[in-house]
Amino acid sequence: MEAPVPVPPLPHSTRTDGYDGSEMAASTAEESVIETRALTKRYGGDQLAVDGLDLTVPAASVFGFLGPNGSGKTTTIRMLMGLIEPTSGAASVLGRPMPRATRTVLPHVGALIEGPALYGLLSGRDNLIRYDSADPAADPRTRRTRVATALDRVGLTAAAGKKAKAYSLGMKQRLGLAAALLQPRRLLVLDEPTNGLDPQGMREIRSLVRELASDGTTVFLSSHLLDEIEQVCTHAAVMARGRLITQGPVAELAAGARGRLVVTTPDPGDAARVLKERGIADLTVTDDQVTGEPPGPGTDLAELNAALVTAGVRVRGFGLERASLEDAFVALTGEGFDVAG
Ligand SMILES: Nc1ncnc2c1ncn2[C@@H]1O[C@H](COP(=O)(O)OP(=O)(O)OP(=O)(O)O)[C@@H](O)[C@H]1O
Ligand SMILES: [Mg+2]
Repeated sequence: MEAPVPVPPLPHSTRTDGYDGSEMAASTAEESVIETRALTKRYGGDQLAVDGLDLTVPAASVFGFLGPNGSGKTTTIRMLMGLIEPTSGAASVLGRPMPRATRTVLPHVGALIEGPALYGLLSGRDNLIRYDSADPAADPRTRRTRVATALDRVGLTAAAGKKAKAYSLGMKQRLGLAAALLQPRRLLVLDEPTNGLDPQGMREIRSLVRELASDGTTVFLSSHLLDEIEQVCTHAAVMARGRLITQGPVAELAAGARGRLVVTTPDPGDAARVLKERGIADLTVTDDQVTGEPPGPGTDLAELNAALVTAGVRVRGFGLERASLEDAFVALTGEGFDVAG
């Protein structure tokens, strides 16, 4: 296997005459790999796809860009990659303004954006060879090894000779990812990288993302799967209807939502009655479980438990369940994680 080619750091401009339009200070550029200010995209008349987005993606993070279908994820990614112009606002990637600095920035970025462009009549391998050939910085002598390594990383070696038009959605997705991995990059931007993959494929991509991140690559990935973001990301931003709801370290986002009090018992009716008497709100009752909002700071959990037992409730389990990112999303938006109407 060929040794990875080190990529020199992207030089930050030292010019102060505004030549490259880099409004972001060099220090900001080093800390955050993606930065947007009031980034807005309006399609047609009044369709606001992205609305005043302020995003900060720290270096070396695995950043999850989370939102239901139609919330503006792909539109944002297209603006970040310089594929479409924002209606207003600014974006910088690797410390450079986009789309102005597209040509200097993109060689350092591997991207997989919705529906990777493939030549259907070429094999997966030949698609990658073609892709690699289009990169002026790619050494032709090491091309075959590079392509073989990328195919191997995404688990496509066995299918590499097959025509791309015969690939399943998941295989196409893997091929697009392989293209993004041909060169070591400072930043990977992956739009729904596990789209179309089966559970095993999703696990493989997640572990690949972790592996890339452990090498220091910043990974920005969009998803509409909350648990996927929880499993793989260090940071996340939550979008709904084109607007940023929140962003930050995943642990903090989940902690922002309160967990649930969970009582497991064969006597759920009695348990619910006692909990209600004790002021526990938002009770849900199933066959063997009662959940509710955690008690306020004035209530001792041990006393609550004792009250259940005293009332004859057979308690099999009692405790606070950690809030998930999904809880946080629901708490923040006041709605389920559904497609905007
Ligand atoms: N080219 C376009 N012309 C007009 N409207 C568009 C265009 N692209 C996207 N939109 C609209 O902008 C909004 C955001 O779409 P976008 O594709 O960015 O969402 P998304 O979060 O990527 O969704 P998904 O999870 O389904 O991929 C949607 O209402 C969509 O219909
Ligand atoms: Mg999308």
